[in-house]
This record gives sequence, structure tokens and C-alpha cells, in this order.
Amino acid sequence: MLKYLKKYWYFCLLAPLFMVGEVAMDLLQPDLMAKIVDEGVLKSDISLIISVGIRMILTVMIGGLFGILCGVFANLAAQGFGNDLRKDLFSKIMHLSFQQTDKISVGSLVTRLTNDVTQVQNMVMMAVRGFVRNTVMFAGGIFMLYRQSPKFALVAACGLPFVVVTVTFFLRKTAPLFKVVQKKLDGVNQIMQENIAGARVVKAYVKEEYELARFDQGNAELCEKNLKVQSLLAFMSPCMNIVLNLCVVAVILIGGYTAREGGSITPGHTMAAITYLAQILHGVTFMANIFQIFSRAKASAERINEVLDSPNVITDGVGAEEQEVKGAVEFRNVSFAYPGSEGHCVLEEISFKILPGETFAIIGSTGSGKSTLVNLIPRFYDVTAGEILVDGINVKDYELTALRDKIAIVLQKAELYSRSIEENIRWGKKDADPWEIKKAAQIAHADDFICEKSYGYYTPVTEGGHSLSGGQKQRISIARAMLKEHDILILDDSTSALDLKTEAAFHKALGEQSGKATRIMIAQRISSIQGADRILVLDNGRIAAIGTHKELLKQSEIYRDIYNSQMKEGSEAE
Ligand SMILES: Nc1ncnc2c1ncn2[C@@H]1O[C@H](COP(=O)(O)OP(=O)(O)OP(=O)(O)O)[C@@H](O)[C@H]1O
Ligand SMILES: [Mg+2]
Repeated sequence: MLKYLKKYWYFCLLAPLFMVGEVAMDLLQPDLMAKIVDEGVLKSDISLIISVGIRMILTVMIGGLFGILCGVFANLAAQGFGNDLRKDLFSKIMHLSFQQTDKISVGSLVTRLTNDVTQVQNMVMMAVRGFVRNTVMFAGGIFMLYRQSPKFALVAACGLPFVVVTVTFFLRKTAPLFKVVQKKLDGVNQIMQENIAGARVVKAYVKEEYELARFDQGNAELCEKNLKVQSLLAFMSPCMNIVLNLCVVAVILIGGYTAREGGSITPGHTMAAITYLAQILHGVTFMANIFQIFSRAKASAERINEVLDSPNVITDGVGAEEQEVKGAVEFRNVSFAYPGSEGHCVLEEISFKILPGETFAIIGSTGSGKSTLVNLIPRFYDVTAGEILVDGINVKDYELTALRDKIAIVLQKAELYSRSIEENIRWGKKDADPWEIKKAAQIAHADDFICEKSYGYYTPVTEGGHSLSGGQKQRISIARAMLKEHDILILDDSTSALDLKTEAAFHKALGEQSGKATRIMIAQRISSIQGADRILVLDNGRIAAIGTHKELLKQSEIYRDIYNSQMKEGSEAE
């Protein structure tokens, strides 16, 4: 993590330097005060009181200026550090494979990106400011105390071991708890996220109370752990104060006794010594807080590093030469099991070839592995066995962007972002002209409803696309894919929310497009795919049959069953 600070080394150097200046001014104050008491007040020397008073004001002002500069540079270092770290962490999260995101969980990733980065950022701030301040204050305070009288320094030396033991004790007790607190925070964030995103389902099932109870439980666990840490730490300050007050009493006794005996310790010295003692011991207490922030930040840094250091599971291949054939896909003995599913294969020994320009459909019962199959083509996951070839080259040999650039995919669940409809479609091609966007929307049969919206293409889409109907979301997702230049178009049940008329019109428009790309279409309704060149019937992760609609009606019992059941439903509906 130090590499993120390297860039700001000059701020990290300037901040402590100014802090040393500020502390030096603070340390001068009690000494000047002693002078006013001993040589001004006790000897009624008004001019000395005024001149030393002016020096005191000046030192306060210089100290203040140093303090401000230190604060500015410390903030520049900490904010810059936090900003860079957050950026890198976000970029890493964006590149995590689905399998890694599933494992860490979205809630935990959000906590790491926000709370954990803030903890580490606080540590940087404390390191260049608080740590330096208290170390210098401690050393300078002892020196100044010694200057007042070596006996006072001895009092501090006796008190210090108690302080150190107390601080160490409490830090050791609390350090392991910080990791637990962060984990509990993950849990709360996860519940929060699920419920805010799924608010509609919660309301539809009247589960507010149930979810509230779940949140309460997570929150209570977080509070309990936080309370445990804070209660432990609450003991620390009073313990310190006891030691401090005992030392102050000792200083007053020694000062008073020596003064009565006519020794070298003056009332001014005793006064200054009390202030120095307070500065030293408060410094140590503050240091304890800093160590607490450090151990909290250590737990956070480990969690951040876990993400930053996680290996790239899906990596670039060696790179592939541009091929003459475009849009060919081949599955060779492909089997696939989801990570963490203990080897249970969702797809088994799948082999087939899709020719360039072919319209290839996949049908099968729900959960039979259709989405899984198409998700393997752009390498959302890697195959467990066998290989997938695009244009004759193993997908693992491509650079990921080169492979994904060839493919336009409309996922089963239409994902839209909280920006305008136009920007959502433009995702397919950054520099698209407005007419290209309109044309893509026309193919997707989205243009009509978009134009009817009050702001047309510039109508904002609310988060998750909740301001649009299911069919509208699907059509915008299709338009986005149509806009993207592609050799292979994958439509994963992307017209399921469209009425039959709109769906038929979309397929017609798709068929009329020039420069035909390969199309892989998943559908539940036979009517959506019966015009395809070939249809693959998937049954429980295995290929049951491949052929044209007519061939399958003759050869495949499963296909016939699906067909008959849908025909029956159709005639019943009529
Ligand atoms: N991320 C995942 N982790 C573990 N198992 C998964 C994951 N995604 C899907 N599965 C499982 O893989 C199997 C196939 O799922 P898939 O989504 O491919 O089915 P599908 O044929 O597309 O179904 P549908 O028609 O309902 O969309 C299912 O049993 C599902 O539970
Ligand atoms: Mg699916």
C-alpha cells in the first residue's frame, strides 16, 4: 500500500516538518509562562511581563500558521492517497471474474471500497500528523521537563511505565475485534443493499417487518461488537488520568518542598512542569488512539489487499490473428461446473458447430443450462473441460477485449443504468451518430415508445431501469447490442417480455439486416425460433437434438412435447 503514498512523498515530508514547528512553539509556551511568573509577577516587573507576553502571542501565531500548513499538506497526502487507492480498487473490482464477486459478495466489496479505504486514509492522516506531533511532544516535553528540574523528569520516568503497560493492554485486547467489526459491517451493508435494490419485492410480499428484523439483527451484532471495543477503550482514559494526577501531585510536592527549603525550583518551574507533564501524558494517551486507528486500518488494509492481490482468474490469451472466417462458433466436448458447486456439471459433453451467418437457436426447459452455455462464449466463466472456438481459435487464446469486441450479447436480465435512454443505447458504440442510435432502436422496435416519452431519447432512466416496463427495458438492451459492431449476436431470452406481434416484427427486422452476423438465440417459445436455421434442444445440460424446426418435430420427442404444449396453450388461449 506504500506505493500509493510514494506519489505524495513531498506532502508526507512537509506535513511532519510543519508539525515539528507547531509542537516546538507549543513547548515554548510553559517555559515563557514560568519566566512571567518568576521574573515578572513575583518581582513586579511590568515591562518583562509585557515583552514576554508579546513573545507568547507571537509563538502562538507562528505555531498556528505551522499547524494550518501541516493540516493542508497532511490532507493533500491523505486525500490523494485515498483517491488513488479507491480508483485502483474499483478498477480491480470491475475486472474481477463473476466467480470472485460471488465469493466476496457485493456488500463486502462496497464496504471495502468505502469504509475500509476511509480507515486507511485516516491512518495516513494520523501518521503524518498525530504520530509526529505526539512523538515530538513526548521527546520535547521530557527535555523541557528536565530543564525545569531533573527531579520532575524522574517523576515522568516513574509514571511512564504504567502508561505504556495500560496502553499495550487495551490495544492488545481491542486489535482482533476490529476485524470482526468490519465483517459485521459487511453483513449490514449486504442486507441494506439487497433490500434497497429489491424494495419492490419486499413491498409486494409485505416483508418490511421481516427484513427490518433481519437488518435489526445485523445492526445489533455490529453495535454489540462496536460497544465491546469502545467499552474497553473507555477504561483507558481514566487509567491515564489517574497516572497523570498522581504525577502532578508528586511534582507539586517536590516543587513545594524544594521551594520551602530554598532550593533551585521556583513556583514558575513547578507550574511549567505541570503543563509539560500534562502534555507528555496526554501525548501518550493520544498515541494510544493513534495505535488504535493503526490497528483498525491494518484490518482494513488486509481486506483491501485481499481484493487487490486476488489473481486474475480470466486472463488474456496470447492474442489471435485476425481471421477470415467471421462468426463461427464451435463447442468441443464442453463440460462446465460452477465454481463451488463441488463438481456438479451444469453442462456435459456439449459438441456442436455454428456456421458464420447462421441463425442458431437454443431451447430447453428452465434451468437446463442455456444461459450458462452462451455465457461461456465471451468467457464470463471458463469451461471446466473441452474447448470453445470462435472463428477457429480457442476463446482462451484471444485477448479478452478482442474476443468480447466480436460479440454483442443481450443478457436474460436487462440491465440499464441511471442515465438517459440515449446514453444507455450509446454504450454499444461510444461515437455513434444520433441516426445510428435511432436505427438501432428501430430494429429493436424501441423507437416508437422512446419517441412517445416526454424527453424522447433524452428521457432519464431511473436506477435499475425501474421507470420502464420489462418489454421496454428488453428493447433498449437489444438496441444497445444492435448498435455494437459484432460478428456474433447472442440474445438470451431477450424477447420474452414482448407481445407476439412486436416479437415477430423484431425478428423480421433482424432478418432484413444486411451484412448478416451469426445469431444465437435462446427462447422459451417455439414461435420465436422456428424460423432459425438450426435449433439445439438442451435437456438437463446435455444436447438432446439439433436440427431444423421440421426435422426436430419428426425426430425429437422433447421438442415435440414443448411444441404440443405450446400449441395447446395457444389454442386454449384463443
Ligand atoms: N452463478 C451460478 N452459480 C451456481 N449455479 C448457477 C449459477 N448460475 C446458474 N446456476 C445453475 O446452473 C443451472 C443452469 O442455469 P441457467 O441459468 O444456465 O439455466 P437456463 O437454461 O438459462 O434457465 P432459464 O430458462 O430459467 O433461464 C441451474 O441449475 C442454476 O441453478
Ligand atoms: Mg437462462
